Amino acid sequence: STKMILDLDTGVDDALALALAVCDPRVDLIGVIASYGNTLMKTAAQNTLDLLHLLHADEVPVYLGESHASTVNDFEVMPISKAIHGDNGVGNILLEKSPRSIEKESGIQFLINMAHQYQDELVYVPTGPLTNLAKALQIDPKIAKLIGNTTLMGGALTVPGNVTPFTEANINQDPQAADQVFTAQEHLTMVGLDVTLRTLLTKEHTKKWRDLGTKAGQTYADLMDYYIDAYDNLGIDHRGAALHDPLAVAVAIDPSYVMTVSLNMRVTYDQKTKDYGRTIGDRERLLEPTTTKVAVGVKSERFVHDFMDFM
Ligand code: BDR
Ligand code: CA
Repeated sequence: STKMILDLDTGVDDALALALAVCDPRVDLIGVIASYGNTLMKTAAQNTLDLLHLLHADEVPVYLGESHASTVNDFEVMPISKAIHGDNGVGNILLEKSPRSIEKESGIQFLINMAHQYQDELVYVPTGPLTNLAKALQIDPKIAKLIGNTTLMGGALTVPGNVTPFTEANINQDPQAADQVFTAQEHLTMVGLDVTLRTLLTKEHTKKWRDLGTKAGQTYADLMDYYIDAYDNLGIDHRGAALHDPLAVAVAIDPSYVMTVSLNMRVTYDQKTKDYGRTIGDRERLLEPTTTKVAVGVKSERFVHDFMDFM
């Protein structure tokens, strides 16, 4: 089975990614690192702990990551994030508190240690900003080659962003960290808006979870319905809500869900330019071996079907 580390800004779709990693028998989830974005980093950590409890996965350790980008002093949750994910990150649903606490060791040190321990076998899936990986790379550049695969949810190459016309939310939080990752890390897969906006879940799907009659099924249906309503009310999509983060987990397990283009990518992080936060091919490395597989097509029906099956 795949040794997987998730890095989540938990978040409704992050909660779905977590459930998929817990439920898929091909995954050995060895830990989760918390990030900021949809909510504060500490809230994301507590949400993760509580969701693991709900999913009967109390053995999975949860670590704290960075609470903001290194280029700024603080982080405040954007109003749009609260509208999509609720004030508490999980659709304003009150989760039962986990009896466990968060690990003392830092998430960044955990990632570095696991990269050395498992090397090729390790799959790292960040579905929030790339601040934690960038920090780990600064401390120990060797992990760039060690980690077997990094499948990230973020960016947009062939469609506009979701924060500005050029920027996707995760990249937008810390474009400089994202640029460091794209230029240093090897074996990257970018699962961006190009594909995630094509994988939609509807209330017909969530009704199936509700009908299971389990506490987890009920809770996941409630939080997902909040997110589907937000997509509808905000006019993002009336047909359903995007499975951004679970698609990244699925691709990390089985790359055949997506069609990719091999590129070397960069991120614009000059605040003065209108394409601040844009993910784009690196002109300087056009002739060099590529490090990133960018997903541009997706077998969405197959993915949504399999996703429903695992949950
Ligand atoms: C990404 O941003 C966050 O809001 C979601 O959880 C997802 O990771 C989509 O742009
Ligand atoms: Ca996320």
